[in-house]
Amino acid sequence: MTGLSGCGSEQPSRNSDTVAVTPPEQSEPREWQAVGGSATVAFRDDMAFLQFIPDLDLGSAPTVSQGRELFVANWTAAPGSRTLLDGLGPLFIADACADCHLVSGRAASLNDDGTTSPGILFRLGTADGQPDARLGGQLQTAATVDVPEGRVTWQDVGLGRPQFQLSETDRSLDDGVHLGPRLSPQLTGVGLLQQIPEAQILEWHDPDDQDQDGISGRAHWIEREGVSCVGRFGWKAMQCTLRGQSAAALHQDMGLTTALNPAEPCTAYQSICTDQPSGGDPEVSLDSLNAINDFLTLLAVYERRITDQTQFDLGADLFEQIGCDNCHRPMLTTGNQSLFETLNQQTIYAYTDLLLHDMGAELSDGVQEGNANGREWKTPPLWGLGLIEGIGNSRFLHDGRARTLPEAIQWHGGESSASREAWEILAEEDQQALLVFLRGI
Ligand code: HEC
Ligand code: HEC
Repeated sequence: MTGLSGCGSEQPSRNSDTVAVTPPEQSEPREWQAVGGSATVAFRDDMAFLQFIPDLDLGSAPTVSQGRELFVANWTAAPGSRTLLDGLGPLFIADACADCHLVSGRAASLNDDGTTSPGILFRLGTADGQPDARLGGQLQTAATVDVPEGRVTWQDVGLGRPQFQLSETDRSLDDGVHLGPRLSPQLTGVGLLQQIPEAQILEWHDPDDQDQDGISGRAHWIEREGVSCVGRFGWKAMQCTLRGQSAAALHQDMGLTTALNPAEPCTAYQSICTDQPSGGDPEVSLDSLNAINDFLTLLAVYERRITDQTQFDLGADLFEQIGCDNCHRPMLTTGNQSLFETLNQQTIYAYTDLLLHDMGAELSDGVQEGNANGREWKTPPLWGLGLIEGIGNSRFLHDGRARTLPEAIQWHGGESSASREAWEILAEEDQQALLVFLRGI
């Protein structure tokens, strides 16, 4: 089944096939609660992301501003003049977290000239989860000395869909190893998502579709630091905690070791890591890692932008009627385990179930990560997504194949096929209302 069959000129005829939309029972406008509970901030055009939650007393949480410094800092190769910030590489992708996670949302990824920027990075793996023997599990596109592992170019093979090609490398990938593209997500309310109790995610876990609603999402159980936990961060929910995610980013994306990942991300074939000076053992202290963690924990969520409430409310109804909410669950509630009181017991509207879903063959990249196969992706949260549409060259979906929100919907396959088909036969004004809703949440 092709994901783009209903796009553009192939719209089914409106007379025969449009879905009858039940009008809302009462015409009272819906009452919308703050999208991120007490972590909600008023919208500011110039600072769409990476703002702190309101009323944060930075004096009483000094590690938070330290964490922000570490997040925006440009790290350097060792030995550097600032030892706190040295140890970058020798193989890496970008020298700052903030290069990939921008205030405005998503960093440049697929450039018009066919090159790629660090806003998209590439896992390397086979269908049974084996990395490339020489290059490892992720392609490093920069190096402090000598040459990087390689770069990636892309070409549009129709409707914006990128086909990727490894370039600037003298090594070809091992047999069966594929490029697994991963767009850098915008960071919204990740501290709140961290606080969703596992029990709540597991309520929706239904791997064999026992309730027969056509949706069989499953929790991504992984082992981290000796315990088994439900993954929730990243496109494949490979990380359970922000701390784990940050350590993995420092390691895989920046070539910085921590107590969690004490060895440089080099394979036995790559002597560059042992030849180059280290920035310490580990290069990033536990204090620095915790400060980054506190910074991420206290990131805010932007209030909804509702300009036409009738349209917005209709869009919200349609979102439920065509089953988008089977995976993009509107409402979640945080637990009471955060050291930051204000994050506890908050009702939030993130539009995710944090589960993996089989999204069909077209969205598969053939790379297994953890227990997730190539077709399985975590439902990404949708809050704040409208803020990045149209900014720079922002793209959607894990590999950036969608240029707009409607394109992102059109690619939904697998478990989400019925929902996509229902979207395709909506009357045009109903599609517009649904988009008004998506752009405002
Ligand atoms: C080269 C670009 C790049 C750099 C540098 C980078 N990230 Fe990321 N980040 C990504 C990508 C890509 C993902 C998605 C990863 C995946 O799907 O496994 C991600 C995911 C995340 C997430 C999870 C978001 C979510 O909603 O699931 C957090 C949190 C995060 N990064 C924090 C950081 C921090 C902190 C740093 C610096 C220490 C950092 N990142 C550096 C590209 C980058
Ligand atoms: C079966 C679960 C499921 C259903 C139903 C579903 N989605 Fe999704 N959605 C996902 C997953 C998983 C992804 C990520 C897929 C990928 O990146 O390859 C996604 C991605 C998206 C994205 C892009 C997000 C981003 O960060 O780039 C948008 C927008 C979206 N969905 C909207 C919708 C709408 C609107 C509907 C209803 C028509 C819908 N989805 C139905 C699971 C679902």
